Amino acid sequence: MADEMTAYVIEEYGDPDVFTRTTREVPEPEANEIRVDVTASSVNPVDYKIRQGALPDFAPAFPATLHCDVSGVVDAVGADVEAFEPGDAVYGMPGGAGRQGALAEYVVGDAGTFARAPESISLEAAAALPVVALTAWEMLTDKTTVGSDDDVLVYGASGGVGHVGVQVADWLDADVTGTASSDEKRDLVGALGADAVVDYTTTDVETYVEDHTSGAGFDVVFDPVGDDHLATAFEAVRPYGTVVTTESSSTQDLSPMHANSLDLGVVLVILPVLLGDRQERIGEELAEIAELVDDGALEPHIEERFGFDEVADAHRRAEAGDFNGKLLLVDD
Ligand SMILES: NC(=O)c1ccc[n+]([C@@H]2O[C@H](COP(=O)([O-])OP(=O)(O)OC[C@H]3O[C@@H](n4cnc5c(N)ncnc54)[C@H](OP(=O)(O)O)[C@@H]3O)[C@@H](O)[C@H]2O)c1
Repeated sequence: MADEMTAYVIEEYGDPDVFTRTTREVPEPEANEIRVDVTASSVNPVDYKIRQGALPDFAPAFPATLHCDVSGVVDAVGADVEAFEPGDAVYGMPGGAGRQGALAEYVVGDAGTFARAPESISLEAAAALPVVALTAWEMLTDKTTVGSDDDVLVYGASGGVGHVGVQVADWLDADVTGTASSDEKRDLVGALGADAVVDYTTTDVETYVEDHTSGAGFDVVFDPVGDDHLATAFEAVRPYGTVVTTESSSTQDLSPMHANSLDLGVVLVILPVLLGDRQERIGEELAEIAELVDDGALEPHIEERFGFDEVADAHRRAEAGDFNGKLLLVDD
């Protein structure tokens, strides 16, 4: 095979046009790693936050190949890898933060950060799932437990993490209320399986707590937004309930947690890759998520498909926020 491959890299932080197409050496897998011939990736906020320079501790070494999500076909396996062999269709979250990522012809990562791709959706579409599905899965099954008929409130329910959160909470048999800021977004949230949909821009927290929990408060509030949403989450949850979030960078008054004896769960899904530790957790969870997809309980909503050479346009659209679900990047 060729020694060199095409990659889209950043050599400095900057706006979406900072990406350049270049060639770099095809990486060789270590004993515990696999090399994947990349089919597709997708855009997550972590990718553009790294590009902007907002998460310097997460940036791969420059020139940095970004993007965490990947799907593709196993091309080579390290000496100690037994779970995969060349030709396997996989999806995973091997890098893009902490180490080189997916915007290239090949990516190498710890075998534990991959699982066999779902069979009921295209391999391309599978790349929309890893970061958002792992995040929603950990929020709802690790940081809290959701029981049958629990009232679960999902903020940002039409976004990447939220649209999976609605489907996983529904699969857990919860009574799901989702929030969204436009008619189009609310239509999607209803179609994904939410029992109720709230326009939080015109409905205050007391009203939706009254309307959807008879004033008792939600058992679990799922917050992939942070800031003001995290503050209202503490008002929307019932006494002894749980708030799970992906964003804790804002300063919050925690006295409502004390007043109502609340639990707070915070997810950092990329942590196993950043630490190089417990990475098999990623592949184990992705295997469970693939089962959900193949059982028809979970499907990614893909709003637009871009080529790798259109990564700047994909980042611009993602940062503008005028989309639902996921933006896909395909290695055409
Ligand atoms: N800690 C972790 O492990 C982890 C993992 C994944 C994601 N995240 C973080 O979680 C957040 C959500 O990720 P995502 O993939 O769901 O993002 P996304 O697809 O861009 O969706 C974000 C949703 O949040 C809502 N929102 C409210 N205020 C917003 C604002 N000022 N700008 C943009 N959206 C706003 C929007 O819905 P409405 O218009 O209905 O309000 C939007 O649909 C990001 O900050 C991301 O970095 C963290």
